[in-house]
Amino acid sequence: MGKPNDLKPDLKPVDNVKEAALRDMYAGINDKHMFPFWAKQSDVEHDEVRQLMNGPKPVPFLWSYKNDIEGLLKRSAELVTAEDTDRRSLVLINPGLSPRRATVSTLYTAYRQNDPNEIMPPHRHTASAVRLGLIGSENFTGVEGEDITFGHGDLVLTPRDTWHNHGNVGDTPAINLSVLDYPLVESLNALSFDHDYREDGVAKKKQSARFAGDYSASVYGAGGLKARFVNHYRGVGGSSPMYVYRYEAVREMLEKHRDVENPHEAVLIEYTDPLTGGPVYKTMGFFMQMLRPGERTLAVKQSASLLVSPLEKGPGSCQAVVDGKAFDLELFDTLALPGGVWTEYVNNSGAPVVLFVASDEPALAHFGLLTRYGRSASGDVINLLNP
Ligand SMILES: [Fe+2]
Repeated sequence: MGKPNDLKPDLKPVDNVKEAALRDMYAGINDKHMFPFWAKQSDVEHDEVRQLMNGPKPVPFLWSYKNDIEGLLKRSAELVTAEDTDRRSLVLINPGLSPRRATVSTLYTAYRQNDPNEIMPPHRHTASAVRLGLIGSENFTGVEGEDITFGHGDLVLTPRDTWHNHGNVGDTPAINLSVLDYPLVESLNALSFDHDYREDGVAKKKQSARFAGDYSASVYGAGGLKARFVNHYRGVGGSSPMYVYRYEAVREMLEKHRDVENPHEAVLIEYTDPLTGGPVYKTMGFFMQMLRPGERTLAVKQSASLLVSPLEKGPGSCQAVVDGKAFDLELFDTLALPGGVWTEYVNNSGAPVVLFVASDEPALAHFGLLTRYGRSASGDVINLLNP
């Protein structure tokens, strides 16, 4: 880092002296764990701007559920039992960020299979998470005393610092995926875990239910209506108090608006905090996006990083074209889309494709860093946030 060029033989003595002094100074700076940031030119070795920009970078990357994930998930369920651990997740590591546990810079996706009638002990952490049901109708998450059983397409929230335990209350294996803001929280040096779950001072392997199983639906399930007789402060606050969003309602809304004209984002629905109308977390947001049969979206580039997983798909092909490179999307795959790439979708599957999308958009918006551009049909670049 910042080492000077070798001495040139035709340098004058005074230049030699200066070069030697510079070399000593750069070595000293390096030894003392500092970085010399005073580049004036961009075409020489001391291009510190380029060096700063050349750190580890996430790359667009696809994990195939069928070819990469499914076999290892089943193997892990065989070899690692609930007695061995209180979680059993396969975390997707972006090749550009490895060994950092991150699928994009701020978020990671993890897959989990729970055996029949398996409930892991409670824990909590400062990272927030969601869980999306993929296979099985009796995935289970207990969160702050609300026992939630969920299936394909249902989204369950475990906000930061809420006690939660995962499992499966059915008789067949259940598979789900999680998205966490773990890499962002880790970058902020704010990550901590707690496994010592107690009720009235007594250690417990499972949380006791304190709310009815349909609490989230009964209190928050009707849009535009707010119950005035409950305390909406749940967990440690600051996140959506609605802990489960059923797929049925989202699917119905997608269907209802299937003819909407939106050439850049197709039919896009955001999960929101029913009290604020904003995203469910301050750090990350979630969407369902439906691509109609034969649809080709116009390219979008945004500063937000996305994690995209097809939840419904017909038999034909569906592709994401990322900076000109095509990725074939199949059911339950995860595609990592780092911020700054141009992405368009092509649905030739003959049926609607529904994508689950996780985004760090709320974090970028809080920091004033959110941008989104689209290409017009004629190829011009349009500012989609401020048209
Ligand atoms: Fe957890």
